[in-house]
Amino acid sequence: MTTEMNFAWRYEQLVSLLKPFAPCWTQSVLHYWPACRDALPDDWWQPLLDWPLDAMHQLDDVLAGAMEIPEGLDMPPGLRRFWEAVRPLVQFPRSPSAIPLSETQTLRMTAKKQHEIAAILPFLVERNEALGVKRAVDLGGGVGHLARTLATELRLPLVSIDRNADLQNMGRALLQKLRMTDVPLEFVNGEMQSARQDALDPYFEGDCLSVGLHTCGPLAWAHLKKSQRSRAVLNFGCCYDRMDVTRDCQQSAWARQHPLPWTSFALFLATRGRRRSLEELAMQERVNTWRLALHLFLQEEGLAAGFLAVGDAPRAIYAQSFADYAADRFRFLQLDFAARAGKADGYIMRSDVARSMREFFVINVVRNVFARPLEVLLLLDRALWMEEQGHRVELRQFFDHSVSPRNLGLFATFKNA
Ligand SMILES: C[S@@+](CC[C@H](N)C(=O)[O-])C[C@H]1O[C@@H](n2cnc3c(N)ncnc32)[C@H](O)[C@@H]1O
Repeated sequence: MTTEMNFAWRYEQLVSLLKPFAPCWTQSVLHYWPACRDALPDDWWQPLLDWPLDAMHQLDDVLAGAMEIPEGLDMPPGLRRFWEAVRPLVQFPRSPSAIPLSETQTLRMTAKKQHEIAAILPFLVERNEALGVKRAVDLGGGVGHLARTLATELRLPLVSIDRNADLQNMGRALLQKLRMTDVPLEFVNGEMQSARQDALDPYFEGDCLSVGLHTCGPLAWAHLKKSQRSRAVLNFGCCYDRMDVTRDCQQSAWARQHPLPWTSFALFLATRGRRRSLEELAMQERVNTWRLALHLFLQEEGLAAGFLAVGDAPRAIYAQSFADYAADRFRFLQLDFAARAGKADGYIMRSDVARSMREFFVINVVRNVFARPLEVLLLLDRALWMEEQGHRVELRQFFDHSVSPRNLGLFATFKNA
């Protein structure tokens, strides 16, 4: 087997690279500060303490999935070595080039959805004939953009299943508007569960192509498991933080033989990946660092022994001073602020606090180096599980990361295909 699709090998390599840093990616940076920082080698992050924001933005972009290190970006060598070791393990072959969609096809589709469907279509056109499928089903189909396009382009009867009836009604109305009521597309309202469901399961059985675009959280596993008796399945996951660590991670025997200490924080980290503008990163820096400063302030004042949930501050408060922000959060916590207002005033200027804030921001950016590898491990686990059931499995990159970060699709053909 080529290393491209050698999922077991990739899995093992990624586990050995990530395991030593588990104390960093398994927990929240804030809750146990500075445990995450201390779990990383100093030379990964110390050189970044005096980097300007635009360089931090370039680094953030690389770690969020841009993959290529821009010329002139002097990444700390230890961090760079880790990134370079990980990079080939998280890259997958591209799907065939996108087919542009027509104006009619794209009516009321976001640019992101257009990009996704234009990338999925040529792949399925290429595979469809050999599969000999007679119908298709789209799980979590929402408004039905993908199902509508596949029904017309693959000339297959399509069933789009979703639990959200409002979205499906919008999809029906769109068919009317497009005068496409003769398209063989049926919307079925239903909530897919992992247990046997006599009303829904038959849609996924027989000469069927089973598709799920951004099946969120545990829905991806339900999709893969329910599609075992179809001819082929194409699945894209998303929202890994909605998965249950004990139920939805390490399902394959291979993953269980190479265990990792998954947590809800690790699943949340795996969902990272949207690239941020410079302005967004600047705002993130303020939000993150003021939150840390408040955490330290509450502890110093003897008001919290460890982490204390403080709710979300209104966006506008971040344009004011730290003392205004602290006063606002004290009100939320129903704590007395008046006696502490003087101390809060200059708090973030104190050199030890300012240093912690900077370290906190840097660690938050650097920790994203684990995000894509964690996502890939979750997807490899699915691929390995499918292989263990005897299926032929491919993982491919379908979408440009900058448009749609959850861009890896799992395609499997089944024994009866
Ligand atoms: C992230 S959206 C993707 C929608 C669509 N596939 C697309 O790409 O635009 C996930 C969809 O799955 C649906 N969904 C989530 N869990 C479901 C379940 N258990 N059964 C049926 N539909 C579900 C949601 O209502 C939502 O429309």
